Amino acid sequence: MKSHKRNILITGGAGFIGSHVVRRFVEEYKKYQIYNLDALTYAGNLENLKDIENAPNYSFIKGDITDSEFLKELFSQIEFDGVVHLAAESHVDRSISDPLSFVKTNILGTVNLLNESVALSRKNEGFRFYHVSTDEVYGALGDTGYFLETTAYSPNSPYSASKASSDHFVRAYGETYGLPFVISNCSNNYGPNHFPEKLIPLFINNIIQKRPLPVYGDGNYTRDWLYVIDHARAIDLVFHEGKNGETYNIGGFNEWKNIDLVKLLCQLMNRKLGRPDGASEELITFVKDRPGHDLRYAIDATKINKELGWKPSVTFEKGLDKTIDWYLENQEWLGHVTSGDYKKYYKKQYQH
Ligand code: NAD
Ligand code: DAU
Repeated sequence: MKSHKRNILITGGAGFIGSHVVRRFVEEYKKYQIYNLDALTYAGNLENLKDIENAPNYSFIKGDITDSEFLKELFSQIEFDGVVHLAAESHVDRSISDPLSFVKTNILGTVNLLNESVALSRKNEGFRFYHVSTDEVYGALGDTGYFLETTAYSPNSPYSASKASSDHFVRAYGETYGLPFVISNCSNNYGPNHFPEKLIPLFINNIIQKRPLPVYGDGNYTRDWLYVIDHARAIDLVFHEGKNGETYNIGGFNEWKNIDLVKLLCQLMNRKLGRPDGASEELITFVKDRPGHDLRYAIDATKINKELGWKPSVTFEKGLDKTIDWYLENQEWLGHVTSGDYKKYYKKQYQH
């Protein structure tokens, strides 16, 4: 039994999912010291953690996981008992225009963390490395079937190839150096703090601004949506109760074709904004498809359900309602994250 506080390093904690994971760990585990390591890229925002920034068991460290010297120094100063690794470049469209950034952060950054973790795991019994990964590593499904933990990897985008590669490195470090690890592969998340480049927050923001809603291709692509707080609950469970060397798939049991989801969003937003029926639907614009666009993702989350007792707790109806309200109440946040470089990105991606 350790006499010191458990030091837990969470990477990417200023981002969308990471901020919910950091908040959960800080609030649920008062005896842990939670270190949030984040480079604060365009996707990282400390406003996401305003409510807990002064908690005594929380510390923020600004740093880049691609910088191996910085990580060496950090790991020499603090003896971590576990790493929950979420820091990544996460947007598929950006990976198509700039694959190298994804190689650097998602592959090189992960290997840097693994190198420091191996050394630490040898002196610190009970140490565990947790890689938070994506269902996109499995590639695309047809109209039927589900991704299982045993499904072969078949990534189609530079983003998913980089995440598949980092998953493989984690597993290889387990086999080769005996690093205790767990991996989870999750479906599409949605909820507060989601950067407005991804479908749901982008479209909420565009509806508010009465801007076109750019649906890729014919919109007949399917994603399995999970409320971010339920993902954070799953990450907590996997970190604490998952078996070393195992993978857990996490999903919402909640498949939606993009076009149906967009129409639902329009309906809900018309009501919330007091606009007439059909007003937001007029903004729907079919645009050039995403290259290598995966047709369908759907997770079979039976393993985490049976072994760890996890299942989603928030219905899609409730989650979407809470999410839209959050964006309507957090216009200042939206204003901050859509200023500066965002305008350039938006123009390049959608207005050419
Ligand atoms: P995000 O883009 O919102 O946040 C990523 C965070 O990582 C940001 O705070 C950013 O500043 C930080 N970061 C980026 N590069 C860094 C670097 N070099 N060093 C240190 N920090 C760096 O991402 P997200 O959507 O919250 O995803 C988090 C993790 O979960 C990612 O690993 C992603 O692959 C995975 N994931 C995401 C989803 C999803 O639907 N968003 C689903 C499954 C898995
Ligand atoms: O499945 C998990 C993955 O989900 C995560 O690993 C990724 O980090 C996360 O970004 C997400 O990837 P997707 O590519 O599925 O998410 P995105 O929100 O970019 O797109 C969802 C669907 O909507 C997809 O079929 C593409 C489509 N789309 C997206 C955008 C941004 C549009 O039709 N128009 C758009 O403008």
